[in-house]
Amino acid sequence: MSMTLADIPQLPLDLPPGTDPYPILKDLRAKGPLAKAEMGIVIALRQRHLDIIMSDNTRQLETETKVLQGITSGPLFEFTKAAMLFANGEEHRRRRAPVQRTFAFKLMDAMRPKAAALAAELVGDRVNQGPVDFVGEIAAQIPARIIADILGIPRADLPIFLQWIADTAEALGFIDVERRPQIEASLTAFADYVTKLLEDRRRAPKDDFLSDYVAQTARDGELSEIEIRTQVVGLILAGSDTTRGSLCMTLAQLLSHPSQWRAFCEDPDTLKRGVVDEGLRFEPVVTGIPRVAVKDFEVDGVLIPAGTVVSLSFLSALRDEEVFADPDRFDIFRKDHPRWHMIFGAGAHRCVGEALARAEMEETLATIARLAPNTKLVGNFPILKPGAIRQIDRMEVAFA
Ligand code: HEM
Repeated sequence: MSMTLADIPQLPLDLPPGTDPYPILKDLRAKGPLAKAEMGIVIALRQRHLDIIMSDNTRQLETETKVLQGITSGPLFEFTKAAMLFANGEEHRRRRAPVQRTFAFKLMDAMRPKAAALAAELVGDRVNQGPVDFVGEIAAQIPARIIADILGIPRADLPIFLQWIADTAEALGFIDVERRPQIEASLTAFADYVTKLLEDRRRAPKDDFLSDYVAQTARDGELSEIEIRTQVVGLILAGSDTTRGSLCMTLAQLLSHPSQWRAFCEDPDTLKRGVVDEGLRFEPVVTGIPRVAVKDFEVDGVLIPAGTVVSLSFLSALRDEEVFADPDRFDIFRKDHPRWHMIFGAGAHRCVGEALARAEMEETLATIARLAPNTKLVGNFPILKPGAIRQIDRMEVAFA
């Protein structure tokens, strides 16, 4: 007989900021496959639950997160309604296909030398200069400037482009409602700017991503103008806070494990892939991927009724002792990473920016190891604030 949701344990709520979530999740895993979290959301705790949740048992959340916050019209609502991330079925396929075809692995991997050169410029200027705000001066700059390069944004527009990204990154999840006017004003200006870029490429195509993308959408003929530009804005936002936070936490872990940091500095090119795999596993900034059950189904004998919001908890599943030996140990030499890192999701919505995120992270970290092998963390270890995409409070390093 099936167990029901009434039988599963509750994740403690209202934990003080900075609470280490991992012992709590470990304890829950010992009790069973699932737990209840805030707002009635059910979290699945193990890696093997990924496929059953990312299947036709469920659908992606659409505008629900915005509606829950009282946002039912206006720029934020329109963005959510038109983005591939919040779409299902045929609508999702139509929006994703032209991006997937043109934002291809080859293009992203070709950004490696650019990421390395940018990191060398940003880090090189700061070696032996005392403490640096790593979050703002390095980790936020890399993804924003690389995507600006991919989109062919003129240097003069970089400051406003960076400002729009900072203002609108929250659009992907729950927002701070007091900031809604500012977020919406920036989102509108940002969307207008992207519209102009697209018009430029239609008028005068170049040998670049945006030109390929507009040509592909014209060939497919399946998207509205709003959908065409929203996928571009969505790409920019989806790649920003995720990569920024992941870069910070991976470097923070490395610097806190001096023998592994030294090994990395001796051979950054061989070890960079393992470093990024482990950084993304050990302290994931994306905490999980929520879905809505569209029919009754079971996870390890527990019935999930249709309508339940069920989220695969990355925080738990990336420390799953069934998959990772000694999961609470940070180990860049680990050999038990699955072939597909779950931090990039699974199924129809699996991240389209994985290769770019990896290129940016690997090349930035390898550049720091080469140019500044005596780098130290300054002050306290950075703290991640709770949320769907966890934000770092602050992180300072001294490059040397
Ligand atoms: C370390 C960095 C990153 C992480 C951890 C990450 C993680 C994820 C995850 C888990 C999803 C699936 C969400 C879901 O199923 O609900 C996703 C989707 C997505 N990601 Fe990433 N991502 C990263 C970097 C990037 C970059 C650099 C880009 C592009 C520049 C990007 C663009 C996207 C887009 C457009 C989607 C939506 C795909 C769809 O709905 O079909 N991501 N990402």
